[in-house]
Amino acid sequence: MLKIDNFSLQLKGSDGRILPVIEKVSLHVKKGCCLGIAGESGSGKSVLAMSVAALLPRGSVHARSGTIDFDGCQILTASEAELRHLRGRKVGFIFQEPMTAMNPLMTLYDQIAETVYAHFPASSRADADAKIMLALERAGFSEPEKFMHSYPHQLSGGMRQRAMIAMALVLEPELIIADEPTTAIDAALQVQLLSELRQQIEQHKRSMIFISHDLGVIRAVSDQLAVFYAGCLVETGITSRILAAPAHPYTADLVSALPRLVNERKLPVSIAGTLPAPDKKPKGCVYSDRCHYAQETCRAQRPALAKLTDDWQVNCFYPLHKGLV
Ligand SMILES: Nc1ncnc2c1ncn2[C@@H]1O[C@H](COP(=O)(O)OP(=O)(O)OP(=O)(O)O)[C@@H](O)[C@H]1O
Ligand SMILES: [Mg+2]
Repeated sequence: MLKIDNFSLQLKGSDGRILPVIEKVSLHVKKGCCLGIAGESGSGKSVLAMSVAALLPRGSVHARSGTIDFDGCQILTASEAELRHLRGRKVGFIFQEPMTAMNPLMTLYDQIAETVYAHFPASSRADADAKIMLALERAGFSEPEKFMHSYPHQLSGGMRQRAMIAMALVLEPELIIADEPTTAIDAALQVQLLSELRQQIEQHKRSMIFISHDLGVIRAVSDQLAVFYAGCLVETGITSRILAAPAHPYTADLVSALPRLVNERKLPVSIAGTLPAPDKKPKGCVYSDRCHYAQETCRAQRPALAKLTDDWQVNCFYPLHKGLV
């Protein structure tokens, strides 16, 4: 359904610097599957997701290469008309920051209705209303009629995030891209929304890209996992296997940094150092200056993504194991 091959992206910084924010990424998302994307803040998760829906402001893109194929449509060379048809109807995007993605001057109902009429101009009012109510219910509004005539500023942060989810689901897209969709939502509602999103995948055979810095949430919702670090894909494969036995030292560090509910009082282990800026990455492996296992080769050369097993790839000269089942 979605094939990203050898995709690289350079953006222009506000001071004119060229920023290599995505480097040679290849990822495939199958129908009825959820790909989780994890990685710390600034690793390029959102820019990759926005590239799939061609949503990055044109002025900020310096260069793109590789291919992004969505169900036969070549995103990097598609016309604006093709992309408009794709967005909303085939690809639904749940944005990380609802306040910037929503129109502050329109009620929740009007914003969702605008999407429906843009793609189905001949919809009757009753049809559109039925679609909108269903989407709001699926997004966790138990009494949608109470809130649908509110403006974004009249909703709580969590409600705005749910409104974004409703906007993304209303046209029943084939691919849902969810960028940190549950960060502003309390734990109980988070569970409800994750199970609704999972249902969308399993019952309706939709695909999903689910971005989160929270590996616990990713573990619950995704089949496949892609771990990003400084714009590079460092490890990818089946979520449960990777999280049980990470092969890349960065994935292992992320797993150790995961807070756990344990009896004894014990803090998770933080990763020393910081993510390098896109134009200040080390010459060798992007993680080499923070990695406990880095050797001379790691600092001198950039490794390439290599197969551990048929469905497990790792971008490391010295993976922690050779592929466990
Ligand atoms: N429009 C833009 N112009 C220039 N640089 C950008 C733009 N958008 C993002 N960047 C840069 O691209 C890099 C990746 O940013 P991105 O927003 O994808 O990170 P992220 O992994 O989604 O982080 P977070 O977890 O905080 O959401 C960062 O260095 C960021 O500063
Ligand atoms: Mg982001």
